[in-house]
Amino acid sequence: MAKHRITIAIDGHSSAGKSTMAKSIAKELNYVYIDTGAMYRGATLFAMKERLIKSNVIDIPEFEQALERMYLSFRYNPNTECSEMHLSGVNIEKEIRTMEVANNVSLVAKIPAVRTKLVAIQRRLAEGSGVVMDGRDIGTVVLPKAELKIFMTADPEVRAWRRLRELKAAGKEVTYDEVLENVLNRDRLDSERAVAPLKQAEDAVVIDNSNLTMEEQYVFMLNLAKKRMEEV
Ligand code: DC
Repeated sequence: MAKHRITIAIDGHSSAGKSTMAKSIAKELNYVYIDTGAMYRGATLFAMKERLIKSNVIDIPEFEQALERMYLSFRYNPNTECSEMHLSGVNIEKEIRTMEVANNVSLVAKIPAVRTKLVAIQRRLAEGSGVVMDGRDIGTVVLPKAELKIFMTADPEVRAWRRLRELKAAGKEVTYDEVLENVLNRDRLDSERAVAPLKQAEDAVVIDNSNLTMEEQYVFMLNLAKKRMEEV
């Protein structure tokens, strides 16, 4: 029987491994992968470059005006085999992964005008099917009709260790305590914000990967996707 191409929404806590899994599943199924966190990080870098964030406070009215000139786009890099984030045509993929951006992103992600702009782009990118999109509000707000919704989580300490390893591998000077603080802080801000807070969609499959290997999660998720492709 021919399999249908479906839309897969992956939400969950920060550093739960959403993008690693989403990328692998998309590659295996030959689907498009869309990293919405990269878009919020891109918007944050834009606000920083415009000097609209000072001491963790953002000038919201100025930022709302500046949004008109914020051009974020994904461009495929054949060397990394990934779509990378660009701001006004300049590759910002590395810059958006720094702790400075991570520490400011919740300020930007809670602004309704930013979410409206980015959600519209995300829905456009997901038109058609054969898409894996990850973020915080994909199954609840952006793509509520997604055929498969997954909510990924893990203990904060496990997530902090994983993130620390990634940052160190990228040559960043950070401590475990700093990373854990950032993880806990983002959990709190993501879950408590008024607009599109992080929450599990009622019809999402929850995966707590604190004690799962990458391979175990991958096989489990791929099987879920294949099952849904047969069902729809
Ligand atoms: O997935 P990430 O850690 O790269 O996301 C960066 C930040 O963007 C995260 O702290 C919350 C925010 N975000 C969001 O508010 N909504 C999304 N759909 C994706 C990310």
